[in-house]
Amino acid sequence: MPFYPDDLIEEVRSRNDIVDVISDYVKLQKKGSTYFGLCPFHNEKTGSFSVSRGKQMYYCFGCGAGGNVLTFVMEYENFTFPEALQFLAQRAGIELPRQEMSAKDRQESDKRARILEINKVAARYFYIQLRQEQGKRAMDYLIGRALSAETMQKFGLGYSNKYSDDLYRYLRQQGYEDEILKESGLVTIDEKRGGYDKFWNRAMFPIMDANNRVIGFGGRVMGEGEPKYLNSPETKVFDKSRNLYGLNLARSSRRPQMLLCEGYMDVIALHQAGFDNAVASLGTAFTQGHAALLKRYTKEVYLTFDSDGAGIRAALRAIPILKEAGLTARIIDMKPYKDPDEFIKALGAEAYQERIDHAQNSFLFEISVLEQDYDLKDPEGKTAFFNEVARRLLEFDQELERENYIEAVAMRYQIGFENLRRLVNHMGARAGGAAPRQRLKSGIHENKKPEDGMDKSQKLLLTWLIEDVRLFEVIKPYIGPEDFTEEKYQRTARLLFEQYESGQVNPAKIISMFTDEEQQREIAALFHTRIADIETDKERERALKDTIIRVKDHSIAYRSRHLAPTDLEGLQKLVADKRQLQEIQKLHISIE
Ligand code: UTP
Ligand code: MN
Repeated sequence: MPFYPDDLIEEVRSRNDIVDVISDYVKLQKKGSTYFGLCPFHNEKTGSFSVSRGKQMYYCFGCGAGGNVLTFVMEYENFTFPEALQFLAQRAGIELPRQEMSAKDRQESDKRARILEINKVAARYFYIQLRQEQGKRAMDYLIGRALSAETMQKFGLGYSNKYSDDLYRYLRQQGYEDEILKESGLVTIDEKRGGYDKFWNRAMFPIMDANNRVIGFGGRVMGEGEPKYLNSPETKVFDKSRNLYGLNLARSSRRPQMLLCEGYMDVIALHQAGFDNAVASLGTAFTQGHAALLKRYTKEVYLTFDSDGAGIRAALRAIPILKEAGLTARIIDMKPYKDPDEFIKALGAEAYQERIDHAQNSFLFEISVLEQDYDLKDPEGKTAFFNEVARRLLEFDQELERENYIEAVAMRYQIGFENLRRLVNHMGARAGGAAPRQRLKSGIHENKKPEDGMDKSQKLLLTWLIEDVRLFEVIKPYIGPEDFTEEKYQRTARLLFEQYESGQVNPAKIISMFTDEEQQREIAALFHTRIADIETDKERERALKDTIIRVKDHSIAYRSRHLAPTDLEGLQKLVADKRQLQEIQKLHISIE
């Protein structure tokens, strides 16, 4: 990953005003000093999404999305940090220093760039062919498949001419040499016969990566013929196991899940019907690379594979891969139709949406496929089936989750919950101590910190400080960064106090200092904490005093718990702080 110095990051950030940037994506309305709009990160009807020019931050009071301008483009465009920086640098006309590369790396990267360029030229060439006289048959074919002109344009569909060296000659004319053309996968060079095209007389589907670069092609025969689809071979820019067809569009879908289908035509038909979250693997099996890619954009993947045996087998193979990547999988039933393309043609988008809404949990799908191997009318078959189900249920090592599944299975097959549970437990015991583990009550919330009152007081104080910098002087005699007991809050407070001392409070800069989006979101939340019922100055002063006391009180309690017995200095400070706390109680804290 490239490295950029903090100063440069800060320059890029500060030269992209957050209100200007977000206005390109979200319609904002000014209310007081803050702008509001509909949150682009979750579905809502009321505008909980706020953008502040003063703070140079955004925050959604509905879903908790938040951060600075870099966080925003990372989240919205699904950019990595370097991509976001690049994007915003360009927007502000700032030149980023070229990262040092070895001669070999540079050569390799030039080659990739050149292959991408050839692909783009070829895609444009196919595109034009389709829309000319010679492309009429292909055009008729695509129209016959119910694709609109708009859809064809969105997917850049094209046509490869009847002659077997049409593209080759065109690319040579454009100045590309055999050596690089060979590596593009678009032509084969034969010693005697010269170059000839990989694709001819086919409807062409350019394959784009997530950043809209053409990395390869699929070509379909028009009508019957073998092979139905021809695909570009893997090249320096085309890795089939790490790219998904349609992802360039689906990545900015606002729908909560991704639809994973099997074919090019399925993706296209779904997008045309308004399901802009559809993707497909590229004529290969679904891989861990695909799952990792999807994970960048979603938490839930709905499989919409062919209803036939091959489709079901493909789904059964994809489910564990998705789960392992930490994604939830559901299965869409399209019966009696074969694939999404046919389904939508027959029943329309609304009916398909209903199928999405009723998509089946992947475990229950697996069980229902399993069921077909057993004769449930026969007691022996039935017993064998439930034994196998129990064995699979045992694989959920979280007790609550396992119980929920036991319940779902029991309900579905109308057997007693207790019976099934006993069978599962029994099997666990037999499997040698793998019996359901009792979960510790105290362990449940270990990772999730509940928002207790303390957290809230520390957060409030941080929010108030950036909203009214005069408060630094009011608070300073009593509270310092060390009084923030939560590590992240303390780090934030320290940075904030430093900024204040050096004359410029700049919370958006602090966000850049945290590396991942999750942390940036948390820091943004720190700066957007609210409590109800504060209207008058008097109420504000009172709330401020209460909060100072609460934070200090907690800090004292925390330190006395963690004080080393030999830390005399710490002890003295503690005693002094306790005395001071009593004084604050009596004090009148004024904001003016
Ligand atoms: P399908 O046979 O289901 O094709 O193959 P499809 O997408 O429904 O296409 P239409 O509707 O018949 O036109 C699914 C996917 O498998 C790959 C392609 O990616 C295709 O979209 N495939 C299929 C090939 O790569 N080559 C083939 O010969 C067939
Ligand atoms: Mn099809």
